[in-house]
Amino acid sequence: MNVTASYGSIQRIIFMIAVLVACSRADAQTPATWVIPAKYKTMKNPTTSSPDNLSTGKELYSKHCKSCHGTRGLGDGPKAATLDVGCGDFSTAAFQAQADGELFYKVSEGMEKMPSFKKMIPSENDRWSLVDYMRTFKAK
Ligand code: HEC
Repeated sequence: MNVTASYGSIQRIIFMIAVLVACSRADAQTPATWVIPAKYKTMKNPTTSSPDNLSTGKELYSKHCKSCHGTRGLGDGPKAATLDVGCGDFSTAAFQAQADGELFYKVSEGMEKMPSFKKMIPSENDRWSLVDYMRTFKAK
């Protein structure tokens, strides 16, 4: 057996393990955060909170969102308990202070446990109607 060659491959394996460990630790140390492209912050919502739109929004919300975000958007849907991250609280001032376009971006693109809905809800107007509906969760 060629001792030099096998020593070389052991070194390579150790190096690969070190890289894997370093990568997984870097991953664990960086909590996911939303990175929203600037254009969404000023994007105009083409829909209005008309009764029609709100009923579309409500229907879509019940079908696609309620299981995690809860009936009132408090983040207390039955599926929320199975996730290792919180779903947020749509009634808070901090949530409601976000621009319509920012919410539109989050619903469209998703992030980690929050699914991306641009394929599941292909109509942009439908996704904007969800934004309108989420405005109704604002704490009174
Ligand atoms: C499988 C569970 C799940 C479903 C279904 C889901 N979400 Fe989420 N959502 C999450 C989680 C978890 C987060 C928090 C993500 C994070 O910050 O790590 C989130 C975050 C969000 C946010 C950003 C919250 C904030 O504080 O800014 C919005 C907006 C949102 N979801 C809207 C929706 C809408 C609208 C739907 C339905 C079309 C939906 N979500 C469906 C799990 C879900």
